[in-house]
Amino acid sequence: MPRKTIRDLRIMKERGEPIAALTAYDYLFAGIVDAAGVDVVLVGDSLGQVVLGLDSTLPVSVDDMIRHASAVCRGVRQALVVVDMPFLSYQTSRRDAIRNAGRLLQETGAAAVKLEGGSPRMADTVQALVEIGIPVMAHLGFTPQSVHGLGGARVQGREAGGAERMLEDAERLQQAGAFSLVLELVPGPLARSLSAALQIPTIGIGAGAGCDGQILVLPDMLGLNAGFEPRFLRRFADLGAAASAGVESYVHAVRAGEYPATEHTFE
Ligand code: KIV
Repeated sequence: MPRKTIRDLRIMKERGEPIAALTAYDYLFAGIVDAAGVDVVLVGDSLGQVVLGLDSTLPVSVDDMIRHASAVCRGVRQALVVVDMPFLSYQTSRRDAIRNAGRLLQETGAAAVKLEGGSPRMADTVQALVEIGIPVMAHLGFTPQSVHGLGGARVQGREAGGAERMLEDAERLQQAGAFSLVLELVPGPLARSLSAALQIPTIGIGAGAGCDGQILVLPDMLGLNAGFEPRFLRRFADLGAAASAGVESYVHAVRAGEYPATEHTFE
């Protein structure tokens, strides 16, 4: 089965079919997520926190993204794979953006990149990438690469004029050729009206049910990231507890001399 394309997402929006997206960072989970039927697998720079144990996405490099995105692409058969452009890989110049986005596609097998922000300068960067055939997913609301400038992970668009500015940014990104827009930590009514105003699909995280699709960070929704409990998150499984129980049981079996048993031992 060929992988989904950016065209398929546009058609899903036109038909009112919700888009299911998740992040993945490695081959095994990418295969599980893909086989379960998600439409989009995002190799997020959230790997900084959930894979590398960093405080933010800021230290994540293009090489980190390439290493993880190639593994993900090897595990995905049917979903569209999008790779995050990490901090400073596209903000410095259009030339850097083209070179790094090109590497992300060429060296991983992914079909699109994602970048953050909606200023006129960022829209120019989106346009430059789209013009050379690189599909771009945009990202507004809370943009984690600006965590310090935004004063933490806070809901965006509530301040005076904030909703109007977000709509302007979103329209500018659509005009520049972005094929989709992530809305992170955006009030539900604002995300709903942005989704209605745009032709391109919106994918929400902490943005309510009015978006055209939803995305969650995989370890968070599988219960692997103990202690991370934002209001928008639903835990769809408790793999953290299952993993702890499995490891404790192994330690006990080794210490008790119960493992390995005869059936695990070569003659
Ligand atoms: O890096 C990431 O995982 C993301 C999602 C939260 C959308 O950007």
